Amino acid sequence: MSQALPPIVLDHPLVRHKLTRLRDRNTSTAGFRRLTRELSLLLAYEATRNLSLAPRHIEAPSGSMEGEELDGKKLCFVSILRAGNGLLDGMLDLVPSARVGHIGLRRDHETLEVSEYYFNMPSDIPGRTCIVLDPMLATGHSAAAALTRVKAAGATNPIFACLLAVPEGIAHMAELHPDVQIVTCSIDSHLDEHGYIVPGLGDAGDRLFGTR
Ligand code: URA
Repeated sequence: MSQALPPIVLDHPLVRHKLTRLRDRNTSTAGFRRLTRELSLLLAYEATRNLSLAPRHIEAPSGSMEGEELDGKKLCFVSILRAGNGLLDGMLDLVPSARVGHIGLRRDHETLEVSEYYFNMPSDIPGRTCIVLDPMLATGHSAAAALTRVKAAGATNPIFACLLAVPEGIAHMAELHPDVQIVTCSIDSHLDEHGYIVPGLGDAGDRLFGTR
């Protein structure tokens, strides 16, 4: 088994400030959504750090110059429903031309098996850098299943971006997808007996969409 890539943890004062506000149980639904959007833009900034550039000649107002632009390959953000959708707006603010795919997964409470109920990807996945999105890397089962599907659709070197991760989820991903770069705002302590991240931020989907 190859050595897993170590997760990238965003260690920026703005991220730490916004994440603390996000975690606060007194933050409103509107505030939670806004902070998630802002944090996902910062996550996208880090997750796209290694995109390659090609030279581009331009006429600047005071002279011509060799500039740079993103090389051929374009991006696809893949949201794991439903909480992954909360990360889309901020990512698309930064990269408006990116394509978007969706994966719906559910977990059988008895067998703990993950099964897929929705899968919709752009047809040109092999030519794109895929960034798979879920705010929480908890057990890692959904993330790993989504990565398996995205790779089967032709994605090479996909990235996984989340707000919070725990060692359990990171270990599961390292076992099944050691090649996938995880980008996160924090590595929290552990999972509780109900599968929630400690200290975490609660149920990300419920807090984003105000469903509880
Ligand atoms: N999913 C969530 O929304 N929150 C957790 O703490 C764990 C998984």
